[in-house]
Amino acid sequence: MSIIILGIESSCDDTAAAVLRDGTILSNVVASQEVHKLYGGVVPEVASRAHQENIVPVVDMALKKAGIDKGDLNGIAFTKGPGLIGSLLVGSSFAKAMALGLGVPLMGVHHMQAHILAHFAEAPMPKFPFLCLTVSGGHTQLVLVKDYLVMELLGETLDDAAGEAFDKTGKMLGLDYPAGPIIDQLAQQGQPVFDFPEPQVKGLDFSFSGLKTAILYFLRDQSRADPGFIQNNLADICASVQERITSILLKKLKAAALQTGIREIAIAGGVSANSGLRKGLENMGQAEGWNTYIPKFEYCTDNAAMIAVTGYYKYLKGDFAGQDVVPTARMDW
Ligand code: KG4
Ligand code: ZN
Repeated sequence: MSIIILGIESSCDDTAAAVLRDGTILSNVVASQEVHKLYGGVVPEVASRAHQENIVPVVDMALKKAGIDKGDLNGIAFTKGPGLIGSLLVGSSFAKAMALGLGVPLMGVHHMQAHILAHFAEAPMPKFPFLCLTVSGGHTQLVLVKDYLVMELLGETLDDAAGEAFDKTGKMLGLDYPAGPIIDQLAQQGQPVFDFPEPQVKGLDFSFSGLKTAILYFLRDQSRADPGFIQNNLADICASVQERITSILLKKLKAAALQTGIREIAIAGGVSANSGLRKGLENMGQAEGWNTYIPKFEYCTDNAAMIAVTGYYKYLKGDFAGQDVVPTARMDW
């Protein structure tokens, strides 16, 4: 008999639903909330309200695209945390009500574990144990993945996340939110001619707040001397910032690989969509003799396929949540 799982993701500003049958993605629907561009960042209350409007049509569309009747579902997975609490409440309440109505089990999923398990949405899939650099708007983590649901955090950011470094730089440059993909595009037309400092952080942890401040002061000083500096050097500034963020990330990834002796190396999360990071990982992988794994774009940024995949492995283990489960903004492994 087939096992069919519905996944629901609502941790930040994307309302997403996906259907998975026996580990194969049948549909993967995302409604992104453009409204936050007006404010230069995600406004939590606005996000919750948009999730409320989107969730019924998004789930409906995921079921229709998959050609699955809701009565055929074997379980429902939802993002339990970490994320914005109001946003999480919409997805979790919906999932709980639907599971109760259908009489099927409920799986509460850790969003960052799900980003890693996005690698199991489609082949090629990494072999255990592997290392995963998970880089998103809120997190930067180096994780030792021993099995689908057995993961150990080796290092993480002490302050800002890598995605935040992209987004905050974008704000300084007058770019729309989220600025990561825009900086990526602009960087392709420029050269990394400006040298931003590399933080000296011990072990496998990261730091991006010093870089953010260095960029701020650099832009302030240059703009004082030449008010058109940003406009005239935008592509080169973007290329330089992207180069530095990428070098910080890859340096620690290499250190983790050397420390653990692991050569199965993956990246995940929204920033893994970055072309500079993808290229840098490929080059480093070839030089170091690694097998590298980079998700397809649709599985990098927030999506529900990764929630459904994680839910599937929880289902197989019988790791179910009760109706009393509550989402949490902060969540340990
Ligand atoms: O994983 P994600 O979709 O949401 C969170 O869980 O945070 O990641 C969103 C982050 C944002 O900071 C966005 O700017 C960044 O991923 N991002 C990128 C690119 N695409 C998305 N950063 C750099 N280059 C990209 N191509
Ligand atoms: Zn995410």
